[in-house]
Amino acid sequence: MNFTVSPDHAQSCEKVALRICEIVRQKPNAKLGLATGSTPEPVYRRLAQLCKEGAVDFSHVRTVNLDEYWGLAPTHPQSYRYYMDQNLFNHINIDKANTYVADGLADPDRAAAALDEAVFAGGAPDFQLLGIGGNGHIAFNEAGERLSADSHVVALTQSTIDANARFFENAGQVPRKAITMGMKGILAAAEVWLLASGAAKQNAVRGLVEDGAVTTQNPATFLKLHQNAHILIDEALAKLVGLQGG
Ligand code: PGA
Repeated sequence: MNFTVSPDHAQSCEKVALRICEIVRQKPNAKLGLATGSTPEPVYRRLAQLCKEGAVDFSHVRTVNLDEYWGLAPTHPQSYRYYMDQNLFNHINIDKANTYVADGLADPDRAAAALDEAVFAGGAPDFQLLGIGGNGHIAFNEAGERLSADSHVVALTQSTIDANARFFENAGQVPRKAITMGMKGILAAAEVWLLASGAAKQNAVRGLVEDGAVTTQNPATFLKLHQNAHILIDEALAKLVGLQGG
């Protein structure tokens, strides 16, 4: 695992955006695994800017997203399809036919199978972007006694519902289930870049820093098994988890 500590979250995001551009320049039809949430928003803003400047061409790029709320239409302002369109796809020259976000209205088991199909068709992603939950979840692979290899339907934990309530009018409106990429899809990507910032992530990130333990109680620790995993955090979080800057 490769840790990079940046002075602030914006600079962590800058590094990720530049890495994505590098990959796309080397492989114009690269497949990018993308994430939602507040953490990667600056990455998407920067990519939109770089695309506008002509520094990167997304016209042949393919994307697949980690997850989607079950029960939300793609037009729902809190659906992850809507998020991706608003935060990135509407601002870059990507062909939306080449972007995949699981169908939140489909039969959930079929939607999960279709997600795995999208992850692996034509080869696993060249790159995977990740955030991390306060409980260590990656995508919606929640902390618990077991993890699923395949994409699947998941009941969100109360801590995830509470954490995401800020995007809705109240916690009661947060969908209780989601369709998520499984651990296999995440770990199959050629390289994985996890961004984290904020004290709420300290326990989860400490589990990445502390020792070699891999545990379903902190799903992100499975990234320790990946040969090309990058963890990007800011100085404030590094301090909280006892990691030196640099
Ligand atoms: P956040 O979510 O970026 O909104 O903090 C991250 C996650 O839950 O994976």
